[in-house]
Amino acid sequence: MRHHSIPCWSILLLASFAGGCKHEADISSLDLELYELAQSTNGHVWYRANDDLLDRTGGSGHGEPLLRTRYNAIAATVLDSSGRVEPDTLFPSGSLIVKELWESGSTLGTYAVMLKRPGDPSADAGGWVWGYIRASGEVRVSALEQGAACRNCHTQAGHIDATLMNLAFP
Ligand code: HEC
Repeated sequence: MRHHSIPCWSILLLASFAGGCKHEADISSLDLELYELAQSTNGHVWYRANDDLLDRTGGSGHGEPLLRTRYNAIAATVLDSSGRVEPDTLFPSGSLIVKELWESGSTLGTYAVMLKRPGDPSADAGGWVWGYIRASGEVRVSALEQGAACRNCHTQAGHIDATLMNLAFP
């Protein structure tokens, strides 16, 4: 007897491509790159040389209650001896800043990422690429949007090269 019907597993596969499976399939290569960069802590340095979770400040645009911020080796070249960002500095090309947003002391919610890459088509005028990706890999705001949701707040009075940690945690 011959079977002309589509096997059940192929329907399941089609259904998952059609929308059941948002993250891996739909993610842009830029968001995927930022997600991978954010997960690595290799050579990273914590703000104020301290990896304790901090309570988010009133001015934070970020929902989760707890946070901590790290800098890759290139970004860390503009931290002072106390681990704060030097005033009036510009982060060099290749700088990566990752703010980890925690839902609780044990649950990481989101990576907020700033990557200094002036030649990137998705970089803003200051050369920053902005990423916002859940720990699960789900993109909250795509980096292809050039930080449109982030830039205004991040260039408020007192910012240093569009960064706010010094202002929020002096
Ligand atoms: C309404 C204001 C506001 C908006 C909008 C906002 N942020 Fe922030 N962000 C802050 C503040 C304030 C801090 C300092 C830490 C804190 O209190 O959360 C911060 C810190 C950060 C940091 C750590 C580096 C630093 O010193 O600034 C990163 C990375 C970051 N945000 C990424 C983003 C991204 C990506 C977006 C957009 C998707 C965004 N932010 C939108 C207010 C904002």
